[in-house]
Amino acid sequence: MSDTSTTLSLDALAADARVRVAACSSLADLEALKVELFGKKGAITAQLKSLGALAPDERKAAGARINAVRDEIGAAFEVRKSELDSIELERKLAAGRIDVTQPGRGQQPGGLHPVSRTRRRIETIFRNAGFSVEEGPEVEDDWHNFEALNIPANHPARAMHDTFYFPDGRLLRTHTSPVQVRAMLRDKPPLRMIMPGRVYRCDSDMTHTPMFHQVEGLVVDDGVSFANLKSVLHEFMQQYFERDLGIRFRPSYFPFTEPSAEVDIECVFCSGAGCRVCKQTGWLEVAGCGMVHPNVLRNVGIDPERYTGYAFGMGIERLTMLRYSVNDIRLYFENDLRFLRQFG
Ligand code: PHE
Repeated sequence: MSDTSTTLSLDALAADARVRVAACSSLADLEALKVELFGKKGAITAQLKSLGALAPDERKAAGARINAVRDEIGAAFEVRKSELDSIELERKLAAGRIDVTQPGRGQQPGGLHPVSRTRRRIETIFRNAGFSVEEGPEVEDDWHNFEALNIPANHPARAMHDTFYFPDGRLLRTHTSPVQVRAMLRDKPPLRMIMPGRVYRCDSDMTHTPMFHQVEGLVVDDGVSFANLKSVLHEFMQQYFERDLGIRFRPSYFPFTEPSAEVDIECVFCSGAGCRVCKQTGWLEVAGCGMVHPNVLRNVGIDPERYTGYAFGMGIERLTMLRYSVNDIRLYFENDLRFLRQFG
């Protein structure tokens, strides 16, 4: 093998290798080419092996040329490898791109509990009529829940409340009326507010649960009358049930109102004709109400000679049951999704 032919074939080999390395489009191709050139039977390996056939004085120069080509091609491999590595990384990043703003797949959106929906509905109707929405504590003392509301110890009305007591004498409020007391102690008339929230009574059957919700209403100002109470409740019932309906007030008794009344609306199922739900009476009882008792006003430091007020209380579950035709209040607290999903 002459020096010239070795040089030529080495130059051709180098040129060819350069082109092929640059043309490799995958790491696998690049690896295969590396074996083809540098492997045991590789072309460059063969060049190195051929050195043994040269005269000793030619070996050094020829060896240096081959090593230079080997180093140059080796460097070209490294360059191409890092190019292919970054192309591969870009490809993986593009394939794995996720849009974190997309909603998850198969997610079921939650919904408001029917009692919460009703509570919000009630709040909206009263807010539109100029009422504020207030809350009070569920753990109360005897004074706010009873005494200040004109229900002294041993008053027969206490027996109707089935109260849950704590060992220290405090109690779970049995109605939202104690929030009236707190509101009147804090603010002076004019007062115009509703007070929704949980209340507790030791009672359980188809129409009673130990915890349920009430919404209390209170308006105290100069010249507030029973006629105002009637018109506000009538308007509320018509907006809540989204129809014209009759309303009637039956004389009743609450220690904290005088006079007191129970409020009936025309049955929303039979429009007054008489059905099972209204027990053939044509009427449904939906609220208790009355003019705030002068003793209650005095208990909170409001002069009953100067101001009058009305108050009312309604059960939120009861209003929800009537609106959605549900006959068992316990369904609201069993958390059966088949029931709850119907209110989506
Ligand atoms: N607090 C009464 C109850 O729970 C309802 C009511 C509120 C009655 C306000 C009159 C005035 O039964």
